Amino acid sequence: MSTTPPVLAIPGISVGLSTRLQDGLAKVDELITATVDYDDPLIADASAHLFDAGGKRVRPLLTLLAAELGTGPNPDVVAAAAGCELTHLASLYHDDVMDEADVRRGVPSANAKYDNSTAILIGDLLFGKASELVAGLGAEAVLIQARTFVRLCAGQIRDDRPSPPGVDPVEYYLGVLADKAGALIATSARYGAMFSGCSAETVDVITAFGERLGVAFQMADDLIDISSDGTETGKTPGTDLREGVATLAVLYARAGTDPRDARLRELLGGDLRDDARLTEALDLLRTNAALEQARERTRAVGAEAVALLGGLPESDAKTALTALVTSVVDRLG
Ligand code: IPE
Ligand code: IPE
Ligand code: MG
Ligand code: MG
Repeated sequence: MSTTPPVLAIPGISVGLSTRLQDGLAKVDELITATVDYDDPLIADASAHLFDAGGKRVRPLLTLLAAELGTGPNPDVVAAAAGCELTHLASLYHDDVMDEADVRRGVPSANAKYDNSTAILIGDLLFGKASELVAGLGAEAVLIQARTFVRLCAGQIRDDRPSPPGVDPVEYYLGVLADKAGALIATSARYGAMFSGCSAETVDVITAFGERLGVAFQMADDLIDISSDGTETGKTPGTDLREGVATLAVLYARAGTDPRDARLRELLGGDLRDDARLTEALDLLRTNAALEQARERTRAVGAEAVALLGGLPESDAKTALTALVTSVVDRLG
């Protein structure tokens, strides 16, 4: 499956900027292709499997776009962008093992095509490759990547568990998202600004922006898991429900008191590994007010991201970053 990079879908972006971003993404892809190669054919094949299948390239796009706030793309920016996409790619190999997913990027997931052990080890290998690339960018970049990776893993571990007693489930959910998705998207933006000579203030602004964008991006992903039929995402809808991961719409639905939603609450309180129960829960949730409520909250987080850009001078890049938020929160795939 080849997914259109969102750069092509950012409305109002200038032709010059769009061309530069596409050129940059092509360089990132070249570098990743060279990096994931391996002399053992099975390892080479399994390492390239998900990369070759496509993906939206949101993280490297953001690195390139953030670099536009400074002096623009250069080999360090490209290497940093590739490092972020590789880190993301590795996390997808692991995530599909955790979620027992069969499909990713429109092709069989690595755990389905190979097996769990291979998927885990290829994920580790790709993390290693990402670190190798980032090591060429200096000690500060390595430290940032290490801390990002720790947050991503902590988020993934907490994602698999219900909120602890006494903790507000919505706050817990948003905290998990900041770690599992926000941290890497923030770093993607941060590297772009860092390696294009931006001031420390601009680096801080774009990092905070990336984190909020990342949370909104994952919130949209969680909505899509409920609302999509899987054709645009290349993933199986309903995976979160089946795996018992309570995303925002589910938390809102559970907290509801309308007697007409009693059946939905009953289903959400039980095991949804049974296909008939899962389909019924998805059907009820898709028309429930909780879904729209979660969509509103997603837009609000997107608006927080945009507000963070307020102090930056007007530029093509700022316009594109703002438009990227809208396309992320309203996306369908
Ligand atoms: C999937 O990421 C995991 C999330 C953090 C939502 P993407 O939606 O960026 O996946 P690809 O790279 O386009 O496949
Ligand atoms: C994945 O979260 C986040 C990371 C890979 C760190 P999800 O499990 O919600 O993502 P998808 O829906 O499988 O892409
Ligand atoms: Mg998953
Ligand atoms: Mg998951």
